[in-house]
Amino acid sequence: MENRGRVSVFVCAGLAASIGAAVAGCRAAPALTAQQTEGRRLYEVRCAHCHQDNDLALKKVPPDLHDLFERQTLPSGAPATDEAVRRNVLTGRGMMPGFDGRFTEEQMAALLAYLHTGLR
Ligand code: HEC
Repeated sequence: MENRGRVSVFVCAGLAASIGAAVAGCRAAPALTAQQTEGRRLYEVRCAHCHQDNDLALKKVPPDLHDLFERQTLPSGAPATDEAVRRNVLTGRGMMPGFDGRFTEEQMAALLAYLHTGLR
């Protein structure tokens, strides 16, 4: 499924670049920036197996992160800010492990940039 999304982003970006115009069906999702693409890779490797697939069958179902920054607050009630999400990722919460020391500053920025896209 992820692969299909990636292919269509490339196809859309390629078409839009080659004919120099918005292509029907591609307008809704402009291509991700390099930073967002890196963030998506990190999300897919580190977060999606719980947050989309819940492959550990956690009793407390991990929240859907698609509209994370469209709401005022995170599921915990903390304000939906970069700082709160960063802290949550670093320290973990409940069944979610902390990722302290697992991301460079650059990778964390990329992850946040991708979360801000609404997970395209
Ligand atoms: C092992 C499964 C697991 C992984 C891996 C995981 N999470 Fe979570 N995450 C959870 C669970 C479960 C919760 C709910 C925690 C709670 O409220 O008890 C959660 C909660 C969250 C929240 C909501 C925090 C709040 O304040 O309500 C955010 C944001 C989040 N995760 C982001 C991420 C990101 C980004 C990654 C990847 C770097 C990630 N998670 C990786 C299981 C996971």
